[in-house]
Amino acid sequence: AQPVQDPAREADLGPGAPACCSDGDLTMTTGEPGLRELPLVGRGHPRYDGRAKVTGRAQFAADVVVANPLHAWVLLSSIPKGRIETIDATDARSLPGVVDIVTHENAPTLAAPVSRAAGSSTSHQPLTGPDILFDGQIIGIVLADSFETAREAAAAVRVRYGVQPAAVTLDSPGAAAQRWSAANPAFRDPELGDAEQALAGAPVVVDATYHTQSQVHNAMEPFPTTVLWDGDTVVVHEPSQYVAGLQRGLAQQLGIDPSRVRVISPFIGGGFGSKLSLTPRTAILAALARKFRRPVKLVATRTQGFTLSTYRAESRHRIRLGATADGKLTAFSHEAWEICSRSDAYASAATVQTAEMYAAPSISTRVTIVRTDRTTPGFMRGPGEMPYMFALETAMDELAHRLGVDPIELRRRNEPARSPVDGRRFTSRSLVRCFEEASERFAWRDRNPVPGTMRDGDWLVGYGCAAAIFPCFNYGGSATVTLMRSGKARVETAASEIGTGAYTALGQVAADLLGLPIENVEVLLGDSLLPPTAPAGGSMQTASTVPAIRDACQRIVARLGGTMPPLGELGSMFDRLGAASLQESAQYRAFDGKGANGSATVSTPKGAEPVAVYSFGAQFAEVRINARTHELRVPRLVGAFAAGRIVNERTALAQYRGGMVWGLSSALFEGLEIDPTRGRAINTNIAEYLVPVNADVQQVEAILIPEEDREVNPLGVKGIGEIGIVGVAAAISNAIFNATGKRLRDVPITLERLF
Ligand code: MOS
Repeated sequence: AQPVQDPAREADLGPGAPACCSDGDLTMTTGEPGLRELPLVGRGHPRYDGRAKVTGRAQFAADVVVANPLHAWVLLSSIPKGRIETIDATDARSLPGVVDIVTHENAPTLAAPVSRAAGSSTSHQPLTGPDILFDGQIIGIVLADSFETAREAAAAVRVRYGVQPAAVTLDSPGAAAQRWSAANPAFRDPELGDAEQALAGAPVVVDATYHTQSQVHNAMEPFPTTVLWDGDTVVVHEPSQYVAGLQRGLAQQLGIDPSRVRVISPFIGGGFGSKLSLTPRTAILAALARKFRRPVKLVATRTQGFTLSTYRAESRHRIRLGATADGKLTAFSHEAWEICSRSDAYASAATVQTAEMYAAPSISTRVTIVRTDRTTPGFMRGPGEMPYMFALETAMDELAHRLGVDPIELRRRNEPARSPVDGRRFTSRSLVRCFEEASERFAWRDRNPVPGTMRDGDWLVGYGCAAAIFPCFNYGGSATVTLMRSGKARVETAASEIGTGAYTALGQVAADLLGLPIENVEVLLGDSLLPPTAPAGGSMQTASTVPAIRDACQRIVARLGGTMPPLGELGSMFDRLGAASLQESAQYRAFDGKGANGSATVSTPKGAEPVAVYSFGAQFAEVRINARTHELRVPRLVGAFAAGRIVNERTALAQYRGGMVWGLSSALFEGLEIDPTRGRAINTNIAEYLVPVNADVQQVEAILIPEEDREVNPLGVKGIGEIGIVGVAAAISNAIFNATGKRLRDVPITLERLF
């Protein structure tokens, strides 16, 4: 089998010569020379896949046409807890075109997913028994000759439940708290000194509780899967942020070797974390395709998508800040509670990050998961950073107000030289610079710090700011680069294009290193046959993959004598080498993440030294609230971000701005409403689960702060995918306080909470 050709290009590349794949230990040492190969901010090449997307040639998973498919419809539970007493599918089965109604009574047997930690969205395996663990659990699969028949049959299935009372919120009776460090022994709550004592003696104390609602990713593309068997190999067309992970997890559930699973995912209509993990639907559909010897195609609806994958957990935070009268922190305490499921232990646990923000000499943190009858939560863009930083950065604003100190100045006074928790060195930290640049651009100097004093006619005006942080994970990756005698090149790696610009960024690095126009580079992504690389998640794919691409390119250049010849001379050069093409594969193994709570270690001349590796940012918001109608507008967002080397200026700005829009969304719009009596989600559609429309999004400006980091990886790329959302909600709530004097500690901030 060959990787699918990228439909974005009329590929006129000859078949590359058989690989002479270099192998061996290609671990990069950090801090090596080579940072000058590319500029600190790479040019904004237009989207590699832009034309394919706007012309409809880009093929998404639901677009895949297969011969004679069985159309699947998932039946989901309509109660959160209890037992299926009977499923009556008699009427459904009698509809012409219905092939089967699969329930726990006749489902194929599968191995349970290994674990939440190993890359499944949940360890819960549906269709194994009559028990219901959460609202929207898969309780059946209808298979029919057409989509419409499958849908009609699903509506004709009658389910009788024995209903039990369910706990569905942090405060529901029956919700069971468990310390995260007990559920996950690898986790240690960051601690330093005696924070209780420091708080008791602090001249100024802020003690406040914050809350964030459950949020659901709601990518434009929901959760389609098409699966077919080609001999003993299963081919899965499914949008995936991590094809290698999906391949491995699916193989395990089917009990076959991963080499017999091929995952194809060249384009993804947004993921935000919802497509990082293997969800339960895929193995069931694969097993049914095997049983019926026909391809199976599922195009799940948006409403079904609310429970087919994960979501951002509802969370609560109690923050206590102790400070001197001149605004030096003496104590930082962050207690957090996150909602979780009965079947799995998951927490985003971003106390690890909040504890590294400010130079508090005493630190106390504690993360607790609260087990409820809900779906297992999971990663959603800035998973812990968004809610945890909403809490901390609102608390910092409260402290600044109490002290009468400018919020930026307060942060400057508490800027740590090293990790406040354990003294690790920051490989680079540009937080203050971000505040300086963004505040200048925003014209923060025009702010009146006295709440309610800035007014423009009927409009109350407020300015607010907040910090952003996101850790740099280095996962490792691999890539193959082929240079043809025609001067065309091909980059192959199993990265995922979730809409963020992976084709462009990865192709651009190869083009620049090989000295080729970017039009000469073909990029193949999103296929598990390609060299495996880091997921498009955790802001780590680009950082983990470009070092491998760089290494492969350098090897090719070395074979050409150390410098790329002018394109016109390439042919004769290849003739001399007797090669039709030059192909090199390289593997980049990241520095390990074995330090406390996954902190990075780097190799130094003296040996391995743990370091703190983060991107930082500063977010600014202007709000306007109509004093008569209470209409709330956010006319301006400005964010400045420092994330090491920026590969592509254009796609980076788009990512940051998109993240900031999502921050606006998290502050004012998004929240999953759960009916407390029936325990069910109510607003499972995007008419009622609100997201901002264009009229809600006005001026959104992102600033790239150039930053050189020689340690994070050989190209100094930190990763940018998630940090854009972080801090925006706090900047907006702080701006609302500045406009109105009302402190809001719950997101989303809906109109009724304003006055
Ligand atoms: Mo991101 S939440 O890791 O897709």
